[in-house]
Amino acid sequence: MKILLTGGAGYIGSHTTVELIKAGHSVVVIDNLSNSSEDVIKRVEQITNAEIPFYKLDLRDNLSCVFSEHAFDACIHFAGLKAVGESVSLPLRYYDNNLVSTLNLIKTLEAHNCKNIIFSSSATVYGTPAEIPITEQCPKGICTNPYGWTKSIIEQILTDLYKADTSWNVIILRYFNPVGAHQSGLIGEAPKGIPNNLIPYITQVASGRLDKLHIFGNDYETPDGTGIRDYIHVVDLARGHVAALTAIKNGLSIYNLGTGRGYSVLEMVKTFEKVNSVKVPYIIEGRRAGDIGICYSDPRKAMRELAWRADYGLEEMCRDSWNWEQNSRSVHV
Ligand code: NAD
Ligand code: WQD
Repeated sequence: MKILLTGGAGYIGSHTTVELIKAGHSVVVIDNLSNSSEDVIKRVEQITNAEIPFYKLDLRDNLSCVFSEHAFDACIHFAGLKAVGESVSLPLRYYDNNLVSTLNLIKTLEAHNCKNIIFSSSATVYGTPAEIPITEQCPKGICTNPYGWTKSIIEQILTDLYKADTSWNVIILRYFNPVGAHQSGLIGEAPKGIPNNLIPYITQVASGRLDKLHIFGNDYETPDGTGIRDYIHVVDLARGHVAALTAIKNGLSIYNLGTGRGYSVLEMVKTFEKVNSVKVPYIIEGRRAGDIGICYSDPRKAMRELAWRADYGLEEMCRDSWNWEQNSRSVHV
């Protein structure tokens, strides 16, 4: 299939490009490079030995130059701003970027008769989850930040679109906590400034770029008191998109993409230290506002219907994150 990837120069989009090409699909990328660089596309070309048509474009702008040159079978929509804390201080930027982009994209896809879309959603739409492990039946919850609301609202827009016109095929993928990097060490996550997420923070402490890890709370109702999350290797997540394409003809579907296993912050630190023979100094601090204690998926629907499951374990996630950290100095901003 010929696939349009929005946000394809980003962390998850770049890994998905690699897996799509490996699976025999062809890919065209649109990205405004607000959180990535064109060098990522070159690195993906190096890994795949394929040429990737790339358009540096903001999705809120006129996209006809892309559609006049290509006819797509499906679109995977990754593009969006994703920094939770920044979305609290700059809500209009987030609503404008994420919602206006999506509306413009959908209208353009419709005008060009491409009605197959896969959307990057997040476990954040469950809010404080009503059940653990979280199935797709779990009701959506109150989001604690504008970023989360943009995901929840876009899910609603896509649901209403499908209800109004069932010739659309929509797959909503709710990612849990993507970590790790491609085994080549050529692509990975390159957060600008001080990382918000756990693994990028750990890798920067291990490399000495940051002093110590601040663990946000050890008084949760978990065995060691620290927060539990469902970390998933980004290559497994990328393969989830390849698997989802096989189900794109079935109307509207929602899938959790996670491993179904939760690990605590301390387990992450200990495993990272052991696998990579490094030290990660930490201090325990108070809880971070908006955090929940435990969040992990029930991924069985995706296993059943998409014939997909996460293959990599925590050790590979820690190993590949560290490999990327050591290879990526030139990419970090
Ligand atoms: P990322 O920031 O690395 O990639 C997003 C890409 O979209 C970037 O390259 C950015 O330049 C581009 N972009 C942003 N706004 C754009 C616009 N208006 N026009 C064109 N390009 C634009 O993020 P990621 O981690 O790869 O996440 C991909 C998607 O998955 C996002 O929608 C994110 O919300 C979602 N998601 C991510 C996580 C996570 O923890 N990484 C978890 C759940 C969901
Ligand atoms: C994981 C655990 C922290 C950093 C976020 C977004 C969510 C989704 C994925 C996009 C928690 C603890 C973290 C640190 C710490 N993104 N932690 N010290 O919060 O599960 O999810 O990213 O959709 O929307 O909210 O991930 O990596 O920030 O935190 O102790 O410096 O690590 O408290 O228990 P989170 P995270």
